[in-house]
Amino acid sequence: MKDFHYRFRTHSPKETMALGEKLAAKLKADRALSLYGDLAAGKTTLSKGICMYLNADQPATSPTFTLINEYRGDLPVFHFDCYRIKHPDEIIMLGFEEYLEAGGIVLIEWPERIAEHLPADCIDVHMRVVNEHTRDIEIFSPFELELQ
Ligand SMILES: Nc1ncnc2c1ncn2[C@@H]1O[C@H](COP(=O)(O)OP(=O)(O)OP(=O)(O)O)[C@@H](O)[C@H]1O
Ligand SMILES: [Mg+2]
Repeated sequence: MKDFHYRFRTHSPKETMALGEKLAAKLKADRALSLYGDLAAGKTTLSKGICMYLNADQPATSPTFTLINEYRGDLPVFHFDCYRIKHPDEIIMLGFEEYLEAGGIVLIEWPERIAEHLPADCIDVHMRVVNEHTRDIEIFSPFELELQ
C-alpha cells in the first residue's frame, strides 16, 4: 500500500530541515507522518523544516512534559512525541483520532509506541544515524510525493 519510496542522505541539520520543507510542500490537510528513528536521529529537526515551510508561529521543539505541541501556520501542525507514553491508549485519551481529522498536518515521533493507533494511510519516515553529521532518511508513502 505504501507504494512510493524515496531515499535521501543529509549531511547537516540544515539539510534535514531543507528536506522537511521540501516534504511539507507536498502535504495536504489531514496527512499524518510517522517519524521513526533513535534518539537524535533528526525527527524534531525534520519537523522544524516542515513547520518552517508552513509558516508556523513557533519552531518545532521537543515537547518535554507535554505529549503534543500545536503550531499555527498555513495549516495547523499537531506534533506528538510518544516517547514517554506508557500505554498506546493514552494517545486516544488526548484526542489523537480527532487531531487526524482536524485539517492539519500530524507529526508523530516514536510512533512505534502507539503502533495500533496509527492510521493506515500515514506517511512513514525512517531516519538513521550514519555518523555524527550524516543521516539516512527513507520515506514510504501511500501517495505520490514527487520528491525525486
Ligand atoms: N544530518 C543531520 N540531520 C539532523 N540532525 C543532525 C544531523 N547531523 C547532526 N544532527 C544533530 O542530531 C541531533 C538531532 O536531534 P533531533 O532533536 O532532531 O532528534 P530526534 O530524532 O527528534 O531525537 P529524540 O528522539 O530525542 O526526540 C541534533 O543535535 C542535530 O544537531
Ligand atoms: Mg525529537
